[in-house]
Amino acid sequence: MDILTDETRRFLAATAPEHDEIQAEMAAYAEQNGFPIIGPEAGGVLRMLANLANAKRLFEFGSGFGYSATWFAKGMADDAELFLTEHDADELDMARDFFERTGLADRTTFLEGDALELVEQVDGEFDLVLFDHQKHRYAEAFDVVRDRIEVGGVVVADNIMRGPIDFGPLADWSEGAAEALDGTNADTRGIAAYLDAVRADPRYETIVLPVGNGIAVSSRVE
Ligand SMILES: C[S@@+](CC[C@H](N)C(=O)[O-])C[C@H]1O[C@@H](n2cnc3c(N)ncnc32)[C@H](O)[C@@H]1O
Repeated sequence: MDILTDETRRFLAATAPEHDEIQAEMAAYAEQNGFPIIGPEAGGVLRMLANLANAKRLFEFGSGFGYSATWFAKGMADDAELFLTEHDADELDMARDFFERTGLADRTTFLEGDALELVEQVDGEFDLVLFDHQKHRYAEAFDVVRDRIEVGGVVVADNIMRGPIDFGPLADWSEGAAEALDGTNADTRGIAAYLDAVRADPRYETIVLPVGNGIAVSSRVE
């Protein structure tokens, strides 16, 4: 079952921001190879958040070949630093190549390995973070960065409503049926654990937006 009606999906797709030439190439590659990217609707939200936050330090957990990062790059401040992480060396090489072509490679750091280890090797605070790595490790990743987000900064998590998760049981769980998660996969339980963690932290305000695969946007307010 799709979370959106066919009509809603068509409407959102038709009104989504347009790809530039390189993004269109990336999206075509993703389509041909069945690679899961965040897509233009959620990408447009990343761009808007980066712009509104005047983001200067952005960090991605799970960058693939760099598609979502191109949206961050479109919205971030001119003097921003963007950190990509990916444990697949080939994908990271592709990201590097695409970013060379966008002219943004000099403001981008490409880190190969486990994002949760790599983030510890980067000093300082962040004003925008994307979680798009293993879903069962989102809560762990939030724990690692929650104190490192500036007030006014934002963390975004992808695949909240779609992807490798069982959305029906997750919807039942959201209304209080804890047992609905019994027998679901680790990714579904990971999304539930993440939503619990981020919503329980009084310093963050969270809203789920049903664009793309469903994203949870959590803004640090204190
Ligand atoms: C859904 S894809 C990312 C797509 C990308 N954010 C986009 O929208 O263009 C998830 C990526 O995260 C990588 N990944 C998963 N867990 C990771 C981890 N712990 N550290 C680094 N990369 C990871 C996978 O290899 C995969 O390329």
